[in-house]
Amino acid sequence: MATAEQLKALLHSYATADEDRFLSVALQIASGAARSGKQRLGDELRDLVDQAKRHRAAARQPVVAAVPLVRSPGELAGLVAASCPQVRLSDMVLAPTTHSRLERVVREYRQTAVLDAHGLQPRRKLLLVGPPGSGKTMTATALAGELGLPLLQVQLHGLITKFMGETAAKLHVVFQAMQTTRGVYLFDEFDAIGATRGADNDIGEVRRILNSFLQFLEQDSSDSLLVAATNLSGMLDSALMRRFDDVIQYDLPDAAMIKQLVRNRLALFDTTGLRWGPVTAAAGGLSHAEVVRGCEDAAKDAVLDGRQRIMLAMLVRALSERRSARSPLGSGQEGWATDAGARTPED
Ligand SMILES: Nc1ncnc2c1ncn2[C@@H]1O[C@H](COP(=O)(O)OP(=O)(O)O)[C@@H](O)[C@H]1O
Ligand SMILES: [Mg+2]
Repeated sequence: MATAEQLKALLHSYATADEDRFLSVALQIASGAARSGKQRLGDELRDLVDQAKRHRAAARQPVVAAVPLVRSPGELAGLVAASCPQVRLSDMVLAPTTHSRLERVVREYRQTAVLDAHGLQPRRKLLLVGPPGSGKTMTATALAGELGLPLLQVQLHGLITKFMGETAAKLHVVFQAMQTTRGVYLFDEFDAIGATRGADNDIGEVRRILNSFLQFLEQDSSDSLLVAATNLSGMLDSALMRRFDDVIQYDLPDAAMIKQLVRNRLALFDTTGLRWGPVTAAAGGLSHAEVVRGCEDAAKDAVLDGRQRIMLAMLVRALSERRSARSPLGSGQEGWATDAGARTPED
């Protein structure tokens, strides 16, 4: 049954209106009940948590639906993909420093008026740098979720190939939209233009696009949040980085983060008997996204075998398969430091 610590955490999260924490403690209690043989109670508690989450998601809907752009993209059609995310930062597994920097962005943005009264500006222009699958796109999604803003996703590669010759004009349309429609604007695959200063990419057109982007970025004084994300760290020069209010680094997950990712993804399954040593060893060097997918593979196997329980061997195999499933041409993660596999895994 619930421990004294869990009851305290439950009351504390109620008192501070921290819904995410409340539900996560409730889930822990459900898992605890299942582990101690009270499977039925565990299931009932989980159902109640799911129900609460669905109600919460439904209650959040109208706020987002009131944003006109999501209903009719108009001029932005074909340039951006609009959505109304429900993801929160607490759904993410992040290094503590990354987490606190993102919390700071949310805090400043929420207090824009207070800062403004003192002649100060919130952080609004962010550059996220890290290996594929480390949660950069998810971060933009979670920021939108936290702030109740729509997410407008700009795929730069697509924009450049589709509108060759008029890319800068199209970018201008996006920056204008930032003024009229408040939202989180994600410029994904920023390396498509951001890495141009290297000799290889010194193509006239791409360079012009970068220059336009930097000019728009500098001029932008909208209320929107601009997030640029890139997998390449070395190729972005410091002059470019200076134009952003914050540059936030992402890394591959370490053993503790792997454990948290597995726990979160398999929260609705029975994980009694899982030993963390072999799990974190098998997942060492994988990205967050790969760990999550490995867990999903193991969960599917369990479901199709008619089991609620995740077997250690299956999870280890699924994670190992994720590694070998990488493209022989490389995962794009070469050069990203990982110490996950090197650590002494906690058991
Ligand atoms: N830090 C993280 N915490 C939790 N899940 C993550 C994290 N990073 C990635 N994931 C999982 O992997 C998926 C893909 O991640 P994504 O944000 O697209 O990575 P990136 O943009 O860095 O390549 C996410 O939708 C999520 O399921
Ligand atoms: Mg991404």
